[in-house]
Amino acid sequence: MTEAADVFRSACLLHYYLQTYFTVICPVGYAELSMTNERLNQTMHDDWERRAKEDASYYAAFGRRGQEKEEFFSTATAVLRTLHEEFCRFSPATDFRKLAAIEIGCGPGRLMVPMSQVFGHIAGVDISEEMVRLARDNLVDIPNSEVHQCNGSDLRDFDDESFDFCYSYAVFQHIPTQDIVWDYLREARRILKPGGLVKAHFNGLPVSDDSFCEPVCGWSLRAAVPDCLVVPPECYHTDTWSGARFRPEEIADFAKKEYWQLLSMEGFASQYLWVTARKPRETLDRISTINVRHSGMCRVTNTWTEDAVVPCSGRFASVTLRGCVGSHYPNVLI
Ligand SMILES: C[S@@+](CC[C@H](N)C(=O)[O-])C[C@H]1O[C@@H](n2cnc3c(N)ncnc32)[C@H](O)[C@@H]1O
Repeated sequence: MTEAADVFRSACLLHYYLQTYFTVICPVGYAELSMTNERLNQTMHDDWERRAKEDASYYAAFGRRGQEKEEFFSTATAVLRTLHEEFCRFSPATDFRKLAAIEIGCGPGRLMVPMSQVFGHIAGVDISEEMVRLARDNLVDIPNSEVHQCNGSDLRDFDDESFDFCYSYAVFQHIPTQDIVWDYLREARRILKPGGLVKAHFNGLPVSDDSFCEPVCGWSLRAAVPDCLVVPPECYHTDTWSGARFRPEEIADFAKKEYWQLLSMEGFASQYLWVTARKPRETLDRISTINVRHSGMCRVTNTWTEDAVVPCSGRFASVTLRGCVGSHYPNVLI
């Protein structure tokens, strides 16, 4: 009881200090902070619209400028192979024609076209209307597809638990703040069905925090600002090309906090950090009612394939532990 009261009192004090700071000491700062996302979405939109109009294929696939359609679509092969590798995480009996997939940042539909041949339904969102127009053009003969223009940070056009697979390639690397990427992952969790997968590409290049500590006119900006108000440099970039960077432990912390089952991370310390995670099949409510003291282990499987054999090294070496809690809760993910 005392602990709860202390936490509550601390929260009230923190709220009071922040409110005083933002409304009395720094009212402009408050306005700036609350505007940030809206302004960033506009900047991302304008920059990508310009790139799409200049040469969409070049900016989507980083090949040479002025590619023909065939050449542009052929650049998808390696990415598709990587996406296909994830499909063995679905049960072997899965009929993919009954599943739905969605791409965040679909560009002109380079990956959506081949993915439409795997999944029964394919959706894509992009911040640029020109990219959306090109994608719709490329998917015009594919009735099981839909492309939406989005605001740059959410998936509001889609219902809860309506997709089985969500993927994103070469998009989060360009997003200027970590917060927008986290928002997208929360949205992905919302629209995925329980047991659904997300596979997304991050900028995992090492983060340097020196810039903020460098003295400006003899003053260290860092020293003048209270810790709680410091926006770490990796969280605030204004560049919509070389966006925010992520440390693997930040992704792991987020997964734990937001209740994702983190399945794999590949490409550490590179701009091509692939992360795969599953939305757990069990709901939080159900898990929280379980009395773990009376549980037992019922399955240990390879996280990659769900086989009962787990390699001890290499990229496939990860285990999934499933517990049984009496007869009411068999097969609960631990
Ligand atoms: C490098 S291209 C990749 C396109 C596509 N994924 C592919 O591999 O062909 C990045 C795409 O992400 C889109 N994009 C950038 N920021 C976005 C955001 N915040 N939300 C949605 N789409 C975004 C851009 O308009 C662009 O089409």
